Amino acid sequence: MTMLRLQHILSNEIAKRAFLSRPPEPPAEVLLNSPTESLFVGTTKVFKVPFTWTFANLTNPHIAVVGITGAGKSYFVKTLLIRASYVWGTNAIIIDWAGEYRPWVKQSGGIVVSLAKGDYLNIMDLSGMKPLDRAKQIINSLDILTDIGAYPEQRRLTQEAIEQAYVNFGFIISEKAPEGKDAPTLKDVINLLEEKLQDGTYEYPAELENTIYRLRQFAREGQDYFARKSSIDLGKLAESGLVSIDLSGLPSEEFRGLAALFILQTLKERMRAEGFQETKGLKTFVVLDEAWKVASDDKSDAITIVREGRKYQFGLIVASQNPTDINEAIFSNVGTNFMLRIKFEKFMNYLQGSLNFSDFIRSEISKFGVGQAAVEMAFQTAIKFPETFVLEKIHGEEPLYVYTIDMTDVLMQSELAAGVVQKDFQFEKEELKSRFIEFNIPAEGIDELFKKMESQGRYMKMMDFIAQLKGNSVSNSTIASFLKSLSLDDVLITRIISKS
Ligand SMILES: Nc1ncnc2c1ncn2[C@@H]1O[C@H](COP(=O)(O)OP(=O)(O)OP(=O)(O)O)[C@@H](O)[C@H]1O
Ligand SMILES: [Mg+2]
Repeated sequence: MTMLRLQHILSNEIAKRAFLSRPPEPPAEVLLNSPTESLFVGTTKVFKVPFTWTFANLTNPHIAVVGITGAGKSYFVKTLLIRASYVWGTNAIIIDWAGEYRPWVKQSGGIVVSLAKGDYLNIMDLSGMKPLDRAKQIINSLDILTDIGAYPEQRRLTQEAIEQAYVNFGFIISEKAPEGKDAPTLKDVINLLEEKLQDGTYEYPAELENTIYRLRQFAREGQDYFARKSSIDLGKLAESGLVSIDLSGLPSEEFRGLAALFILQTLKERMRAEGFQETKGLKTFVVLDEAWKVASDDKSDAITIVREGRKYQFGLIVASQNPTDINEAIFSNVGTNFMLRIKFEKFMNYLQGSLNFSDFIRSEISKFGVGQAAVEMAFQTAIKFPETFVLEKIHGEEPLYVYTIDMTDVLMQSELAAGVVQKDFQFEKEELKSRFIEFNIPAEGIDELFKKMESQGRYMKMMDFIAQLKGNSVSNSTIASFLKSLSLDDVLITRIISKS
């Protein structure tokens, strides 16, 4: 049997031991940067250090954000965009897959462009590029989004027809296009292919027919969102403050993908053409929220942008519920990864495999609540501290939304006339939410209530409000304490509850 022996030891001896010399967070001088040159995100979990984000010491300004639905990805992105605009004057272009940024952008005074609801993008626009390069990009997009890669002859026919359409419009295909000259559209390309079919001399008419069929899905009357003269100027939008390009009205993922790839390609070309300019912070953030194949395919420009690094002051933010929708090359090359709550083992394995964080971080991520995050940063120089740490909470910034509960349906005429009782109650969203949480109202009930109130212009009559709570099995006594917390008197509370 062995005996346990106590030993006296000096504290400097202890300090040398590995478990204490390797703290769980980067040092404060790395986390906390000058407020005029960085963006506040939240406080760290262990040492409660305010963390302000900057890419100054990182490999690049690009960011990946992952987490299950409701984890707080979009909320974080909005927070970052607003602060970047305050601190650096950063513009933002949001490629909004599901249309979820629309109300916020409007509220914040930004511009919303809705493809499929009156706005068009001609994917053959050149913005100063060589037609040959644009033709390659279009083929590349079709490779990612359609089955064209499996049919080399159809691929060749498509590329040839695109190039021919440019020539017919007076472009020289290997030379940079003059600004402002009108480009052909996919309809012109389809016409050329149809002429060829009519002509009858081409030896594989079936190949030609399939080529036409594939392109026509993007040019049909009523669905020709990318086959008309552009109604928007992406270059200008990239310098117009906060802009959301809403793709939610497009008919399928292929359409959304085509739009997203085109936007990325165009912005990448612009970024290259403008080259390096010495300005503070970032000029533009491009946000890809819910990325689908656009961020997962090896051939995507999302990857090129991330790889081309930091020199253009152009930051890409890719957010997704499904980490496997984000190519490993993006995870391992972006300067910063924000990992919010992840539930599925499969996703966690993929993340841990790409980023190599510890099992401790893994278990933290699986336990996160809304707004909690692990942050992983890739520094330019070798470091002696962990690259991944945990934030207690992302401290957000959403415009103030006021929610009103109207009392007029429970007050008597005399009470209203006398003005002795408050006619309505107004709450800021977070405040109302935390009150609900305080009274143990179930999460689904809270979501439902907010949805209902939002559909009525953030407003609800008191009796509807009570009915909504009861519908979620909230007990009378909980309702009574909630009403008491609003300083209603007992007579009124009894009246409300008996009326319900
Ligand atoms: N850090 C936070 N602090 C307070 N509230 C938050 C925070 N993060 C998110 N929320 C709230 O949680 C809700 C869900 O957040 P959000 O819409 O950002 O989730 P998401 O991850 O983008 O989900 P989805 O994948 O479905 O788009 C929102 O009502 C938002 O206001
Ligand atoms: Mg979201």
